[in-house]
Amino acid sequence: MQKVITIAHQKGGVGKSTIALNLAVELGKKYPLSVIDLDYQKSISIFNENRKEVGLNPLNIISVESQKELMNIIDNADGIILIDSGGFDSDLNRIAILGADIIITPLSNNLIEIYGLEAFKKILIDLKRIRSDIKSNILLNNVNPQITKSIEELKEYIKSNSQFFNIFETILRRRVDFAKSFETGKSVVEIDRSSKASKEIDSLISEIELILQKY
Ligand SMILES: Nc1ncnc2c1ncn2[C@@H]1O[C@H](COP(=O)(O)OP(=O)(O)O)[C@@H](O)[C@H]1O
Ligand SMILES: [Mg+2]
Repeated sequence: MQKVITIAHQKGGVGKSTIALNLAVELGKKYPLSVIDLDYQKSISIFNENRKEVGLNPLNIISVESQKELMNIIDNADGIILIDSGGFDSDLNRIAILGADIIITPLSNNLIEIYGLEAFKKILIDLKRIRSDIKSNILLNNVNPQITKSIEELKEYIKSNSQFFNIFETILRRRVDFAKSFETGKSVVEIDRSSKASKEIDSLISEIELILQKY
């Protein structure tokens, strides 16, 4: 299997790295997987150091210096390549989006987030000139566990922009274990197999597998 998963949003703080590292650890238990960390903050790389410190199997991180190198890796991927793209727009991030079999865009459940999404949509409009079928999958993340109502409004927005976006059924709620993942070097599943956060990651992985099967 050769698949590229890109976590992309030009906005920072939406949960890209948190989701990327949890998916990398858990998908990596099922498939050969490498990670590309395109963010200057190098969250995944730091996570990996924390992981080594607690004696867990480190992620295989590939460092990328140029556009050509990234295109090469995407074209010759063996197994899953998971890309944590930077929280900004750049040529490298655009290549990561264009080369993806599945694009995941985390978004919190706040209507203000629609403005950020509009900016991301502009990037997709540009990229559609190169790849007309390009579409991202919105993943609601960091959502207050109590809230249900306003999710409907976001779903409406996504429905009316269906040429750009799909939305995952899975919603990742605001959970302490997600926040702990980074510093502990563990996925939420490794922190507590029976937690709600773990179930959410399991459910997300099932949805991702279904989408990837279609290719
Ligand atoms: N589902 C969640 N529950 C709790 N905290 C979260 C969740 N998702 C993200 N966070 C926290 O939000 C902050 C930003 O997340 P991060 O993954 O670094 O975003 P990005 O990579 O998009 O900049 C981090 O402190 C992270 O721990
Ligand atoms: Mg990040």
